[in-house]
Amino acid sequence: MCGIVGYVGHGNAKEIIIDGLKKLEYRGYDSAGIAVVQDGKILLKKHVGGIANLENLIGDDPMTSSTGIGHTRWATHGAPSDINAHPHCNEAGNISVVHNGIIENYAELREMLERDHNVKFKSETDTEVIAHLVGINYEGDLEDAVYKTVGQMRGAYAISVIAASEPGKIVAVRKDAPLVVGLGKDAHFIASDIPALLKYVKEIYFIENNEFVVLTPESAKIYDEDRNEIHREVFHVTWDADAAEKEGYDHFMLKEIYEQPKALYETLTRRLDENGTIKLDGIKMTKEDIEGFTKIYIVACGTAYHAGLVGKYIIEKLAKVPVEIDVASEFRYRDPFIDDKTLFIAISQSGETLDTLAALREAKRKGARVLSVVNVVGSSVARESDDVFYTWAGPEIAVASTKAYTTQLMCMYLIGLHMGYEKGTITRDYYDKFIADLAEIPDLLKMCLGNKGYIEGLSKMLYNKEQVFFIGRGLDSAVSYEGSLKLKEISYINSFAIAAGELKHGTIALMEPGTLVLSLATQDFLYEKMLSNIEEVKARGAHVFSIAKEGNTSIESKSNEVIYIPACRDELTPLLSVVPLQMFAYYVAKERGCNIDKPKNLAKSVTVE
Ligand code: AGP
Repeated sequence: MCGIVGYVGHGNAKEIIIDGLKKLEYRGYDSAGIAVVQDGKILLKKHVGGIANLENLIGDDPMTSSTGIGHTRWATHGAPSDINAHPHCNEAGNISVVHNGIIENYAELREMLERDHNVKFKSETDTEVIAHLVGINYEGDLEDAVYKTVGQMRGAYAISVIAASEPGKIVAVRKDAPLVVGLGKDAHFIASDIPALLKYVKEIYFIENNEFVVLTPESAKIYDEDRNEIHREVFHVTWDADAAEKEGYDHFMLKEIYEQPKALYETLTRRLDENGTIKLDGIKMTKEDIEGFTKIYIVACGTAYHAGLVGKYIIEKLAKVPVEIDVASEFRYRDPFIDDKTLFIAISQSGETLDTLAALREAKRKGARVLSVVNVVGSSVARESDDVFYTWAGPEIAVASTKAYTTQLMCMYLIGLHMGYEKGTITRDYYDKFIADLAEIPDLLKMCLGNKGYIEGLSKMLYNKEQVFFIGRGLDSAVSYEGSLKLKEISYINSFAIAAGELKHGTIALMEPGTLVLSLATQDFLYEKMLSNIEEVKARGAHVFSIAKEGNTSIESKSNEVIYIPACRDELTPLLSVVPLQMFAYYVAKERGCNIDKPKNLAKSVTVE
């Protein structure tokens, strides 16, 4: 949550920072601001709303400085407003701070600052305490002041600080919130995520927890908590800025839906050798390790959790090992039974989700082996895991996750197949055929994208429903949860997913004439059962829109509309059936005039509890 960008060099800081903030708006977009050091003073501009509002506010104001910090906010403490927007300054106005995260002891720090230093707070944010503390601790050396301040703070944070009397310097620090440094020629950058910097640099330092960074135009130095300098390997970014552009699509979400065939192809083929065998590359998990696992936990949040629901089915089926699945915010506080025979699989697109990270740490502390499925290289989850299974989705910008989900599913199949083969619970013949079927998925998914026109038309007809139910059985039930989340997060329709067999235990009471039900009936062995469930809701007047496999045409007489996905083995239908659900959510949200890429109250990367 929240995006930070900072620049020191010889260029125009304002332009570079605004450019970078635009690439980070997916992290939060309720207000934005910038502070630069100019003529021995801090110049500050901030405004509620997106970066465009900030640009209008700045207008032609001459901000010619070449040192500055900027921020795009996702509110935690204090409503979105001009005053609560970052950067925040101390009372003298000679220190300015941007912050991502939460200062847990901010209330006691605020009280101390009001009582002992007579500080008059302007905002309701936790961040403002940092600005005042740095101001009070400042005796002419910004590094000293930031070190002292961090010693007084508890919580999760990435902060960047500038001082009016030290032009050409940014001091930053991180704990449980991401920060990267960009290495330019006579210029250095700091940001919450790489896309903010790609226009300017390809060489990056990843900053680790409890590390401090001091940037000047000439140098980028990293120090530990005891102020020892740290040598960091340079990371070369291989993708370019275009990957994070809309390329003619109306929204990033639509572009990312269309990128799924490529993303799935990449995620699969990068893990296969010339014999069609899954290669582990950097993954150190041996056959003995796999045989030794008595239990697997899959833990994640939101869409990544829904990928885990499919993972549970697949891994249990292929590797014959019990798999428990949990949302990270519950797992981390429920004292789960874990030992050194436990494999913990964390799934996270961003690799920065705080709940997932905390659950991972808890599992590690109890002795589990940690394998993560992550999209962002070098992210916190990736760095803290024993092994990483990367998805090759490329940058996902829309808040609503699409290609990250399907590539996470691809990883679930590959993990299940690899474990099953190593354990001998599946034969080589079964393994080869399964992989051959996976290899066809990118083309089959392209066929699903062909339903665009039909789904768009349907959305125009159904967009004004105020309540929608998603039902399915088995793997279809797992996909129902994802379809429902997609619809609610971008269209704000009250949608609800339930295992179809559970309907009669309560939820069917909500069926009324016209209630919209999206029914998934892609599992051959459950098809008849699903038809009965559809009959049940139809009998109460529901409007049923079904997703079924090509050939299963008997569903047509029981549904108002049907979309067919290409025939494939039952285990693989989630990779295809989710596509019409993503498109339906997209076109309904468009019809309702919603802000699709930046839905209200949400942010792409959730680095707070
Ligand atoms: C998906 O559409 C959501 N925006 C959200 O549920 C997301 O999947 C969740 O916050 C987890 O994020 P992560 O994969 O980056 O950990």
